[in-house]
This record gives sequence, C-alpha cells and structure tokens, in this order.
Amino acid sequence: MYSNIFDTHAHYDDSRFDEDRDELLSSLSEKGVSHIINCGCDFKSSLTTLALAEKYDFIYAALGVHAHEAEEATEEDLQKIAELYKNEKVVAVGEIGLDYHYDFSPRERQIEVFERQIKLANELDLPVIVHDREAHEDTMKLLKKYRPKGVVHCFSGSAESAKEIVKLGMYIGIGGAVTFKNAKKPVEVVEYLPLDRLLLETDAPYMTPVPFRGTRCDSAHIAYTAEKIAETKGIDVQELIDICNENAKRLFGIA
Ligand code: NI
Repeated sequence: MYSNIFDTHAHYDDSRFDEDRDELLSSLSEKGVSHIINCGCDFKSSLTTLALAEKYDFIYAALGVHAHEAEEATEEDLQKIAELYKNEKVVAVGEIGLDYHYDFSPRERQIEVFERQIKLANELDLPVIVHDREAHEDTMKLLKKYRPKGVVHCFSGSAESAKEIVKLGMYIGIGGAVTFKNAKKPVEVVEYLPLDRLLLETDAPYMTPVPFRGTRCDSAHIAYTAEKIAETKGIDVQELIDICNENAKRLFGIA
C-alpha cells in the first residue's frame, strides 16, 4: 500500500464513471491517491472538469480543446474556455495537441487550435498538457517555437524524442503502457528519463496497466505503473511515487 500518488492525467467526467463516480472518487484517498488532474477536451468537458475540481479538494483542473475536438470547437467555445482559467483550481491548459492517428479533425485546424492554446498558456503562465499521437514532427515544431512549460502526456515516442522534450525543459508523462508485454519503447524511455522529469498518470478510464489491462482504469491503478518504473530504475516504489509527486507539484504550481 502506497501513499502520495499524484495522477497527472485523468478523465473522471467520462460517462464510464457515471454509475459510481462519487463513490469511486471518495474511495481513492484510502488507496493512497493524494492528487488528481482532470483534463477537459472541449468546452463541455472543461465545465464538468471544473465542477469536479470545485467539489473535491484533491482534484485540479486542466482545460482546453483536444485535437479530436478541434474541428467542432467554435470561436465562442475557445473564448468561453479562456474565461475559465481564472478559477484557482485550474492548473494547466490541456489536454491539447495533435493526433494524426485518428485524424478526427483536419490537420490544419488541429495545428491552428493547438498553436493558439500554447500561446494562451504562455500568456497566462500556465503549463500545457500535450497529446501527441503520430504527429511528433509538427508537435515538436510548435513546442520548439513557443517553449511552453508542461508535459507530453502518455508518451509513446522513442528515447531519442524524449531527450528532445527534456531538452526543452518539459516533463514526460508515463502511464499504463509501460507495463504492457510489448512495451519496448516505453521501457527504453523510462531507462533514459531523468527522475526529475517524470510524471505518473493514468489517462483513466483508459490505458489500464497490467494485470488489469482491458478493464476500466482509475488512479489507484498507478501503483502497478509505479512498480514497473521503479523496477526499471532500480529504486524503491514509494520513493519513486514521492519524487513524481514533487515533480507534479513543481510543474503545476501546487503547494
Ligand atoms: Ni487524456
């Protein structure tokens, strides 16, 4: 049983939690979870994210328009989200980014919405939470141009790309994928990654670590991800969790 778990990326407003959301969230502190950042993906989920952060002390909010929602998001949506950043529980602009795997939105629009939100994050002095799926070149182009502080979440690239991101002063979010049997690249990334650049995350309800892969993920499952990372790094699991908690507090400005 661990303590001090900081889940830097979850979606508890997802409908897969509708049946037992409050019961589950209320049980997480007994399972060692101390902080969660819930991420919005459009205007509607930015509102539900903020409502969760206002209801629960240990939940913080990241607000933004995801690559998948870039086409549907209107000018008005972007402006309405921008007004919500004033709330003191908002700690990041996210999740934002590019997804060329699904291409749910045209790439030009994805880039336009991503770029605009990076600029806004810099103006507000907030970190970004970045989704990069099969869009590494364009993602890096924008990160190098604007140099935001932040994290590339659910990192799926090579150790080489991880180095580039670390060089920019950014963090890397490692989730359940590192526990998967075919997880060669994520393990290589963890082997390379300096401990002070590592964040733990779930992407709940998705990306459930082994041995629960395929079931609904929640923040308590981070224990399995942390065990795998600690084993790879050759350090104590609780020590790893504590370091990642400090990293997250430093990045997101949480006392
Ligand atoms: Ni996500």
